Amino acid sequence: MFYRKKETAKVYSQTEIAPGIFDCLIETPAAKAARPGQFIGVYPKDASHLLARPISICDADKENSRLRIVYRVAGAGTGEFATYTAEDSVSILANLGNGFPVEEAEGKTVVIMGGGIGIPPMLGVSKAIKGDKHIFLGYRDCNNFLADEFLPHGNVYIATEDGSVGCKGNVMNALAATTIKPDMILACGPMPMLRAIKKYAEEQGITAYISLEERMACGVGACLGCVCKTTHKDEHSHVNNTRICTEGPVFDAREVEI
Ligand SMILES: Cc1cc2nc3c(=O)[nH]c(=O)nc-3n(C[C@H](O)[C@H](O)[C@H](O)COP(=O)(O)OP(=O)(O)OC[C@H]3O[C@@H](n4cnc5c(N)ncnc54)[C@H](O)[C@@H]3O)c2cc1C
Ligand code: FES
Repeated sequence: MFYRKKETAKVYSQTEIAPGIFDCLIETPAAKAARPGQFIGVYPKDASHLLARPISICDADKENSRLRIVYRVAGAGTGEFATYTAEDSVSILANLGNGFPVEEAEGKTVVIMGGGIGIPPMLGVSKAIKGDKHIFLGYRDCNNFLADEFLPHGNVYIATEDGSVGCKGNVMNALAATTIKPDMILACGPMPMLRAIKKYAEEQGITAYISLEERMACGVGACLGCVCKTTHKDEHSHVNNTRICTEGPVFDAREVEI
């Protein structure tokens, strides 16, 4: 089901789940059509910050029509969102982007990887994929936000940069410390992590889908503010560019230059 609409929605609840990390439920019919890995644009009310801030859909409660987003306060926009409480109005554009091809993962040995603020969308992905799953979560330190919520959905492995919990290092170090041989990787996280996953997948001859959370402007394909080089030629411009906001943010790692 396709749903894309700019609307004024209502905040159902908001909690700070770790220092500077907020967990927000938004009441919107967009929840019914949301796919894991899609994102929404959230508009600051402050008129000096016009552009919507892209935030991934962490989870969707289709029954109660609530979208869940989990975000880190990075600047003025997210700083404003963090002040919202239940019943506040919030202007959103939802749903955006393509999402992960979760159907393709059925029956495969799937490795799901999330790094830092790339972890939230992987919760919805973990819930949507049935069967054998290994979930690798990479954090800076012992603030392992959302980790407990992944436990019912697969075997969870934690990596921390400071070594305070789980494997010291990143998600790739944690994978290397196991004997798991994935058929497919689905991932979201910082660019160095995604580059390492792309390299690993190419060396192993496996498929990896990666979500590129790059800077965006319009979010709907109009401004070309989010282009990335690909192996395919764009039908209109005939150049090897793709728009992360519309053709992505999820790509087969073989198809993008990062
Ligand atoms: C598809 C997509 C999904 C995203 N999902 C999430 C999410 O689920 N949770 C979350 O916390 N963040 C997510 N982000 C990042 C989020 O959009 C930015 O943190 C936010 O736009 C910053 O807005 P601001 O006004 O608070 O900060 P600004 O004042 O605009 O910027 C503050 C700082 O954050 C940096 N920054 C801005 N945008 C990004 C970005 N896209 N990636 C990395 N650094 C950035 C700036 O360089 C600057 O240093 C996502 C981004 C994209 C493109
Ligand atoms: S953000 Fe405008 S084209 Fe992608």
